[in-house]
Amino acid sequence: MANTAVIGLQWGDEAKGKIVDILTENHDIVVRYQGGANAGHTVVMGGQTFKLSLIPSGIFRSGVQCVIANGVVVHPKTLLVEIEALQARGVRVGNNLTVSSRAHVILPWHVEEDRILNDCPTGEAIGTTLRGIGPCYRDKIGRSHAVRVGDFYESGWRERIIAVAEAKRRMLEPLGVSADNPALDAEAICREYSGYADRLRPFVADTTQFLLDAVDSGKRILFEGAQGALLDIDHGTFPYVTGSNSSGVGISAGSGVPGRHIHKVLGVVKAYCTRVGGGPFPTEQDNDVGQLIRDRGNEYGTVTRRPRRCGWFDAVAARYTARLSGVDALAVMLLDVLSALPEIRICTAYELDGERTERFPDHVERLRRVKPIYESLPGWQREIREARRLTDLPTNARKYLDRLAEVVGRPVEIVSVGPDREQTMFAV
Ligand code: IMP
Repeated sequence: MANTAVIGLQWGDEAKGKIVDILTENHDIVVRYQGGANAGHTVVMGGQTFKLSLIPSGIFRSGVQCVIANGVVVHPKTLLVEIEALQARGVRVGNNLTVSSRAHVILPWHVEEDRILNDCPTGEAIGTTLRGIGPCYRDKIGRSHAVRVGDFYESGWRERIIAVAEAKRRMLEPLGVSADNPALDAEAICREYSGYADRLRPFVADTTQFLLDAVDSGKRILFEGAQGALLDIDHGTFPYVTGSNSSGVGISAGSGVPGRHIHKVLGVVKAYCTRVGGGPFPTEQDNDVGQLIRDRGNEYGTVTRRPRRCGWFDAVAARYTARLSGVDALAVMLLDVLSALPEIRICTAYELDGERTERFPDHVERLRRVKPIYESLPGWQREIREARRLTDLPTNARKYLDRLAEVVGRPVEIVSVGPDREQTMFAV
């Protein structure tokens, strides 16, 4: 009974990488199962900072097998750069990394499509990471223009790339992409991707079968979610979401492991909220409080360096995503960021069209109309980065955590007060 999932319950960037890194100690396999190089996971170890976007954070532990499963969209160049950067810093990346032959591949036209469709939206821009994520998933669902990792090891892949490039040219030319755009140069793309395919070959395998075998033999699997549940393509703040099921519901489809084998789900939240890109954010603080959180939390995107929008903890949203993801317990991250504030607020309900509700709206326009109803708690106004046990925390910080647990409806199991592994406290 030891398979665990780590899911972000907000809009991503909840510092899941740190939690995954800590939990890998008790797991044999770490699996990334959705998203792609839009994710940015930071792991700080012994004063060294590592940034990962595709490789699971388990890569730093010897004896742990890392899997990039079928649900991930792989940008081969980013993956190879990441592998080589880790190797250059002495981190072993070899047969401890496996990439699914079923994973879909991001091609240059996907990045071009992401740019164009982000530029000319029908309303507020989604503000994607411009990594080609949505267009690649669109082709996966559309099927006829999709390319998977395993395709490169079968005959006929060049003809397929050439045919898809031609179809893309016909689609993209009317949108202003010229025929000589390098993103449509089929010959050059075949040369480039054939090189990537050769270099990635040792890593490629049927990860679905591998994981099912691992389940049968009682191996302990850790599922590493990317982004956050509010960005889930089906259950998030659509259309201001990512292209995959980033809540807990995505684990099985993205890995091939049935839900009955996921024994524990840890929901990761920040002690406040952030969001990158467009879309409603009810508790956003576009003021001094937001700026203080941004400065103290270094709230700038790992992938794009965009300043993150910051605000109070939204318990209506977290309660919804905790239920949606089957969360057993919470990890509360970046609690130290709030130490400077004399007063801290939690949104416990919304007012929607004059009525109080504790339900998260199912339409983005209704979410835009909600007014947060806040509860105010006194701050602790003392640095807490040195705390190593929950009893080291000031009373008001513990009261804040207790109230978060109460309003979300899940116990707090882990509390983090800084980026390093040592700055982590466990309730159990
Ligand atoms: P995409 O995933 O690049 O298509 O972007 C869609 C939305 O998800 C945008 O608002 C992005 O800012 C957001 N997003 C994607 N990945 C992350 C992430 O890892 N952290 C936070 N936001 C993300």
